Amino acid sequence: MSTAIAYSEFGSADVLSQIDIAVAAPAHGEVAVRVEAVGVNPLDAKLRSGKRVSPPITEPRRLGSDGAGVVTAVGDGVEGYRVGDPVIVFGAAGVYASDIVVGAAHVVRRPENVSAAVGAALGIPIGTAYQTVRSLAIGSDDTVLVHAGSGSVGQAVIQFARLFGATVLATTSDRRADRVRELGATPLPYGPAVEDRVRELAPQGVTVAIDLVGTDEALAQSIAIVADKSRIATLVRGADAAGLGIRAFSGGNPVPLTAQELAWRAEAIPVAAALIAAGAFSVELGPQLPLAEAAEAHRLLEAGTDGKIVLLP
Ligand SMILES: NC(=O)c1ccc[n+]([C@@H]2O[C@H](COP(=O)([O-])OP(=O)(O)OC[C@H]3O[C@@H](n4cnc5c(N)ncnc54)[C@H](OP(=O)(O)O)[C@@H]3O)[C@@H](O)[C@H]2O)c1
Repeated sequence: MSTAIAYSEFGSADVLSQIDIAVAAPAHGEVAVRVEAVGVNPLDAKLRSGKRVSPPITEPRRLGSDGAGVVTAVGDGVEGYRVGDPVIVFGAAGVYASDIVVGAAHVVRRPENVSAAVGAALGIPIGTAYQTVRSLAIGSDDTVLVHAGSGSVGQAVIQFARLFGATVLATTSDRRADRVRELGATPLPYGPAVEDRVRELAPQGVTVAIDLVGTDEALAQSIAIVADKSRIATLVRGADAAGLGIRAFSGGNPVPLTAQELAWRAEAIPVAAALIAAGAFSVELGPQLPLAEAAEAHRLLEAGTDGKIVLLP
């Protein structure tokens, strides 16, 4: 018998509890994975609390889309995987568990020198960051403003934008400014002074703004600073993007991601894994807790924690 985390009503982190689950053999096109680490994402908490609308709960609902572990069984029709292979799981469902069965499209091979914790930290943040940088066609002529550069998505956006040759400015708390600088961006404190500070730091002008915080202030500053609204994107206030005339990639946007955007989100995982293995990309890990302490992990997430929180089954 395996264990998983589930909730039967929307609410605070207290609604999370551990359940026993039966794990079936992988069907055609699937692999079974013994999960060694689970990435805890803001989306998990938004779905659990009901802040992100989802269907009514009719049976215990499992959560989690990102993880890493080792292949324990391979279904028919799956090429390229063997029992024992270390893998990264992304874009799956119910990954807060000790064992899962997922479609092979949700798994990529994990380089030997990429730990399970780092592998579990990739899925949503790395996929989102890479897709956003590709969708906005960021290149060496760009100066990019990232709101919330010290978060998991922000750190990845900074690194991908730098790899594509852009100059990057990123808002952050003072406490986290060194981390943002280390990744190759110029840090600036968030707050009402952002607009003036950006104009001083980037007299050449800012061509792209990416909102990862969702405040009215960040959106207004982006619109004031960047002339071309098609190069302003929010990842948090998708529901408001059309009214503001800016772009959104999910984050509550009623318009679903395009096939190309989804393809970039998937492509990001092997790209980042290879960069990490080569020492050319960095993921900041935060607290690591046993799977049974998922509720505490959500409390930490909602209180604000440095680095990606990881659960260890
Ligand atoms: N649309 C999508 O597909 C998608 C995908 C992934 C994530 N998201 C959303 O994007 C957001 C960020 O995700 P994440 O995983 O990066 O979260 P995270 O790791 O928890 O980071 C959140 C960051 O917000 C910063 N912050 C807090 N208040 C701020 C303010 N007033 N101004 C600027 N920054 C502020 C914090 O920075 P300091 O510690 O420096 O204060 C922290 O680094 C979440 O809302 C998440 O749900 C959307």
